[in-house]
Amino acid sequence: MARRARPFPRSLRLRFALAILLWIAAGFVLIGFSLSSLVRRHVEAQFHDELAVHLEELAALTRLTPEGAPYLDRPLSDPRYAMPGSGFYWQVEREGHAPLRSGSMPQGTLDPELAHQPHIVHRLAPGPTGPTMTYGFAAPAPDGGPELHFLIATDERILNEVIAAFDRDLGRWLALLALGLFGTGSLVMLYVLRPLDRLGRAIAAVRHGSAHRMETGWPAEIEPLVDELNELLDTTDTMVSRARLEAGNLAHHLRTSLAILTDEAETLARGPAGDSATTLIEQCRRIARQLDWHLARARAGARAGAGTAIPQAILPIATAIERLHAGRGVRFVVGSGPAARLAVDEADFAEILSNLADNAGKWARTQVAIAWGVRAGEAVIQIVDDGPGIPEAQREAVFAAGTRLDERAPGHGLGLAIARDLARRYGGEIRLRGRDDGEDGLVVCLVLPLGAGGGQVADGRAAAARGSEWCRLSEPVRNFGPCRGVSGCSN
Ligand SMILES: Nc1ncnc2c1ncn2[C@@H]1O[C@H](COP(=O)(O)OP(=O)(O)OP(=O)(O)O)[C@@H](O)[C@H]1O
Ligand SMILES: [Mg+2]
Repeated sequence: MARRARPFPRSLRLRFALAILLWIAAGFVLIGFSLSSLVRRHVEAQFHDELAVHLEELAALTRLTPEGAPYLDRPLSDPRYAMPGSGFYWQVEREGHAPLRSGSMPQGTLDPELAHQPHIVHRLAPGPTGPTMTYGFAAPAPDGGPELHFLIATDERILNEVIAAFDRDLGRWLALLALGLFGTGSLVMLYVLRPLDRLGRAIAAVRHGSAHRMETGWPAEIEPLVDELNELLDTTDTMVSRARLEAGNLAHHLRTSLAILTDEAETLARGPAGDSATTLIEQCRRIARQLDWHLARARAGARAGAGTAIPQAILPIATAIERLHAGRGVRFVVGSGPAARLAVDEADFAEILSNLADNAGKWARTQVAIAWGVRAGEAVIQIVDDGPGIPEAQREAVFAAGTRLDERAPGHGLGLAIARDLARRYGGEIRLRGRDDGEDGLVVCLVLPLGAGGGQVADGRAAAARGSEWCRLSEPVRNFGPCRGVSGCSN
């Protein structure tokens, strides 16, 4: 089924940022328009008042010659009426006489239609240099003759320029303010969302085993969620513990019966039914090993608990496995490496390493070396032997449960499957490769996550994608030198 495209971004931060941005943009566009139209109204009103005063001044300064022609006693007080093309114009008309015009209007005329009312009338009308706001009124002449028509006009562009200059300043100022608000809004958002990052880290710590439960001290909105999570963890822990206990009990009962069966079969093996008894013994051992496998799987919780300290955990395992193969004279060498704490349960680590070391001990001719190193978030452990090795084409196949290449050494083909299964539950990985020095033998690379303080937790698949780098130790195990001063060295 085709996935429907998400209408919103997945990140809460991005959502908040977008919401803040839209909110601020919408708010400021609205504020911008309202302020601009308010200012236009005020400026227009101011122009209106000013021109009305000028019109009254024009009327007061108008005189008539003995022939009745209008003239001005003196120029208007605003000098712009004298500057040609200034955008400020006046005109006085009287029927039967040439119109009187301001010096600013060497050509063109104002529409006298507006000046036929006794009160001031204004409207937008064509003027000498484009549309003008024209004001006019008519007044009776002192000589009792035809009325005088007074007109005053201002280019509309002058009003528009004043408003446009204001709009520009307003736009700049609002943009700055919006930027400031967006910045502070983003800071507030980061502060508010910080507990979510902490929540993610706390959950990861529980998942990777460096913490057993979620820590305390959360904001009131998150506290209930954390409490629920802790309840869930407790319930899961109880269920897992009970299941493990029951699996352990079952294994114990089966093992006891198996031991009795094996014992009986060994007695029978000394009699005439020797062959069948040997088969019985072999099958009992196989069942015991299968039990081990299933028990190991049941026990592994991929919860690291207190984790595992290396080299402390490596040394006793190497010593025990060396003892197990002492009959063949195989020597175990544990190299020196940095002390570290793996985010892996100690019993699970023992299960992993003893399976790998047991294989090495079984197939080595003379010696097995164990070395390790740490890098960002993970530890690399190499178990190197000088046995026959495994052909490259079969190095993956041997991980399948039940796969055995060489029947000469005893076994059931489960050890590698158990070890890899456990390692992967912790985000680790196991791979096989040939020796760096070209000699016969096998290098088993075990990568496991480091615990808290060791960096991020490893991801086996990401690690595997790094190819040959994946299994690199800062000090590769080239030749099997002597144990280098680790306390409890096995040789
Ligand atoms: N170090 C090694 N050198 C050579 N071959 C190996 C080595 N480790 C494993 N193998 C091969 O891989 C096979 C699978 O190993 P695995 O540990 O799964 O089973 P096993 O050792 O045969 O039995 P089990 O571990 O269940 O007792 C082995 O049978 C063997 O053929
Ligand atoms: Mg094995």
